Amino acid sequence: MKLNNELIEKNVSLLIIFTLLVVSVGGLVEIVPLFFQHSTTTPVAGVKPYEPLQLAGRDIYIREGCYNCHSQMIRPLRAETERYGHYSVAGEFIYDHPFQWGSKRTGPDLARVGGRYSDQWHRVHLLNPRDVVPESNMPAFTWLNRPLKSDDIGKKMAALRAVGVPYTDAQIAEAPAAVAGKTELDALIAYLQGLGTALKGVR
Ligand code: HEC
Repeated sequence: MKLNNELIEKNVSLLIIFTLLVVSVGGLVEIVPLFFQHSTTTPVAGVKPYEPLQLAGRDIYIREGCYNCHSQMIRPLRAETERYGHYSVAGEFIYDHPFQWGSKRTGPDLARVGGRYSDQWHRVHLLNPRDVVPESNMPAFTWLNRPLKSDDIGKKMAALRAVGVPYTDAQIAEAPAAVAGKTELDALIAYLQGLGTALKGVR
């Protein structure tokens, strides 16, 4: 039996096997080198693991589905860098598990929103966006002004340490105190205010 095009095209199983083979080899060739490249594995100077309050806020960001309308990935295109600032680089996301890059932009990209507005602006905006941006169609997250559940923050940090985030035992031990008495809104704002700040100002 000769293995030629006709045979592969007429035999569904062979076609599937060879397609999977080609896609896997092609994928691996593209993806594997990234694990070893300096530019994709080294943190950008100034990028630090999230503070406990920021980490708790990040979980609220995910829980509330903010990523459904907001990306965190500035592309290296003039229109994007003029509007949002320096394009995103891999080393900024080294401690993000999982990253929140996304691509859906019903609202603006948030990769460098840190420091753009005051905490008070975010407070008003999150509770009712139309109070500061009348034409906004972002939903009001009215329930965020409630106490933050904080008993599992140490466990979350320990889990992140298992995948490479360098939290120390002392940082994990002190974490519950750092988030005690805060609201979900405080945590989310702390997270937003840190976004993209390590590379800020670079153009
Ligand atoms: C249904 C889509 C939608 C969802 C969900 C959503 N947003 Fe928005 N967001 C928008 C739109 C549209 C704007 C632009 C108008 C405005 O500023 O309100 C915006 C603006 C913002 C801004 C201001 C950005 C800037 O550069 O001016 C921030 C910060 C923000 N959103 C945070 C959040 C957070 C945090 C969540 C989750 C709790 C969230 N958004 C959920 C649509 C959304």
